[in-house]
Amino acid sequence: MKPFCLKTVACEAEHSLWNLRPPSDLSSLGRATKMRRLSRLLEFTALLVISILCLVIIFIKEDIRPKKPSNHFQINRRESTYQNRPQKPTSESAGVSTWVHCERNESAANVSGFSSLPVHIQDFLFYRHCRHFPMLLDVPDKCRGPHKSADVFLLLVIKSSPANYDRREVLRKTWAKERLQNGVWIQRIFLSGTTGTGFEKRKLNKLLQLENREHNDILQWDFIDSFFNLTLKQILFLEWMDKNCRQARFLLNGDDDIFANTDNMVDYLQSLKDNDGDKHLFAGHLIRYVGPIRESGSKYYVPVQVQESDSYPPYCGGGGFLLSGNTAMVIYKMTHTIPILPIDDVYMGMCLEKAGLGPESHFGVRTAGLNVPSQNVDTYDPCYYREIILVHRFLPHQIYIMWHGIHEPNLKCSNSQGSL
Ligand SMILES: *[C@@H]1O[C@H](CO)[C@@H](O)[C@H](O)[C@H]1NC(C)=O
Ligand SMILES: *[C@@H]1O[C@H](CO)[C@@H](O)[C@H](O)[C@H]1NC(C)=O
Ligand SMILES: *[C@@H]1O[C@H](CO)[C@@H](O)[C@H](O)[C@H]1NC(C)=O
Repeated sequence: MKPFCLKTVACEAEHSLWNLRPPSDLSSLGRATKMRRLSRLLEFTALLVISILCLVIIFIKEDIRPKKPSNHFQINRRESTYQNRPQKPTSESAGVSTWVHCERNESAANVSGFSSLPVHIQDFLFYRHCRHFPMLLDVPDKCRGPHKSADVFLLLVIKSSPANYDRREVLRKTWAKERLQNGVWIQRIFLSGTTGTGFEKRKLNKLLQLENREHNDILQWDFIDSFFNLTLKQILFLEWMDKNCRQARFLLNGDDDIFANTDNMVDYLQSLKDNDGDKHLFAGHLIRYVGPIRESGSKYYVPVQVQESDSYPPYCGGGGFLLSGNTAMVIYKMTHTIPILPIDDVYMGMCLEKAGLGPESHFGVRTAGLNVPSQNVDTYDPCYYREIILVHRFLPHQIYIMWHGIHEPNLKCSNSQGSL
């Protein structure tokens, strides 16, 4: 690249330099000397200009290169390798070397009415078939653990976008703390894609990398962490679990803005006498008799081009649900045969249905929030949260206060509270 550039540019410039030379009939001796000096000066200046020009060209080329789509693969590889560098060597699990760039499906644009669909849905249709993305961060030893906890009793699997640093930090200190609870291990893992482009993307990736170095709790893949990619995230996790954590007895699968009473969760799971994770369990806020929302303004809009059927199978609200390790693996098997539906919790319901299984309702899971009886009482009174196992939509500071509230040894509650 460089020698070629130097040669051609230099030659062209030299040519123009010779053409610029003054005519040779001005031939007195003094003049000749002056001319020689002048020409040497000119040559020197020209060389300087040429070198600078070459450098500029090289820089511009380097700068432009990552933006060319045809080189997408190379950038991703480079970034992935970079991301993995500070990590412990992690066997082949990082999958970077085996990853093949997934091309967009151009004929998705032929479906009728495509051009009138919202851009994010068009985008979904173009990339619906893509299921493999390079792993940027991995924690392959999560279930082999420092405690040799081959038995992870409850694995907390929390979907979190890169920028949600505050949520992750508060969860690590509260309900998602890795610990021995009632004699069994609770472990935690966050699932993330990437957001932003260029510098912003690199910075957020760096953030996750730093967090992972400290906490060893992030799985990150190189795909855009958008609402419509949540199902993809879920499938990638199940694939990871199949490889690295099949022995987990139970999972809490949820968002990073929930309040989960994981103490109660362990009690509940331990009370399931005939289930040690090897039988079916899928419990949460049960939703039935609904179908795709067809209003294009809705966040949950699913047009007929994405799903033709007007009904969804029963499913549990995606804010958080409990499942056994066995059911997780059954669902994973089903994912191979069902095209991705962008609504992740509904997709779980589809997988269950196909496996001949179903979700069930758990009274303690309130992804739609609590019904606190009156306007005058404190909705965040810890007494309401001692008995539940999961509530959706908590801000980080509320989670922190509540977690300490329910563990307050002197907490006094009336009988009516805690039975909502
Ligand atoms: C669909 O799209 C592909 C790729 O753009 C094109 O080659 C093909 O002819 C189209 N098919 C139909 C039926 O329009
Ligand atoms: C591409 O899209 C078309 C139209 O929706 C679909 O029939 C085809 O199966 C898709 N191809 C892949 C590889 O997903
Ligand atoms: C999902 O992620 C892939 C990979 O980054 C991206 O190409 C696609 O556009 C994303 N889909 C949506 C609907 O955001």
